[in-house]
Amino acid sequence: MRTDYAEVFQSDEAVDKYERVVYAPETYSTAVSGRQRAFLRRLVRREFTARRPVQHDFACGTGRAIKLLHGVVRAAHGYDVSAQMLAKAQEAGVYAKLHQVDGEGPVPEPATVDGPALVTVFRLLLNAPKDVRDRAIAFAAKILPEADSGLLVVENHGNRSSLRHLRHRSNRANQWFAELHHAEVEQLLARHGFEVVERRGFALCPAGAYRREWLRPVARRADDLAARSGRLSGVATDVLYVARRIPK
Ligand SMILES: C[S@@+](CC[C@H](N)C(=O)[O-])C[C@H]1O[C@@H](n2cnc3c(N)ncnc32)[C@H](O)[C@@H]1O
Repeated sequence: MRTDYAEVFQSDEAVDKYERVVYAPETYSTAVSGRQRAFLRRLVRREFTARRPVQHDFACGTGRAIKLLHGVVRAAHGYDVSAQMLAKAQEAGVYAKLHQVDGEGPVPEPATVDGPALVTVFRLLLNAPKDVRDRAIAFAAKILPEADSGLLVVENHGNRSSLRHLRHRSNRANQWFAELHHAEVEQLLARHGFEVVERRGFALCPAGAYRREWLRPVARRADDLAARSGRLSGVATDVLYVARRIPK
């Protein structure tokens, strides 16, 4: 976990690396993102039948989670500390109002609370310090005060109970190698009055399997099947948790 996490993405170099290396076409992250897209779009269509939700994407970065939901939400707002990430999102033509927020201090105010909402917090919890994790979920709680206000979806891109864990010994000194238990995510959500109503995994193979050209097609096929079956979230490397406020 990094204590300087809010600063890490405040440089053009970091933004460029995120877009062009992490999310290059053949990578693990791009494959995971594609599977998440299908799942999220189905989720919105299934759960918001009366009125489409407004999406609020906390730590939106370059707008990946907003782009996944283009066309199925009523409107979208992205919030982030990094002016550089937001500028890249703007440049990429993300359909959303983008808001730069402070990294600490009072929990940011949502731009609007208007009818059903879908709050997304992707690729933040794993590497962020505890107070930032709590801030993100406290922000979601402001938008989702009641069980029927909508849904919160958070990503854990380093599930401790997955094959990825085999690398933890050799990564002891690596600040970027964090892990997060399902129970830690559930406890974080529960502290803010949320309960997990669905959990879905998007890969069983770790990112390294996608870096070996000969192995990539096998890994991709296996992970496509696993993500579709929906049964292996317990041991998936990348997991989405769908949560709702606990009824009062
Ligand atoms: C790994 S990127 C994830 C971006 C995007 N959510 C995605 O999944 O592609 C993490 C983002 O969190 C933002 N961030 C870090 N600390 C934050 C904080 N305290 N409040 C809001 N955003 C923060 C960074 O600026 C960066 O854009």
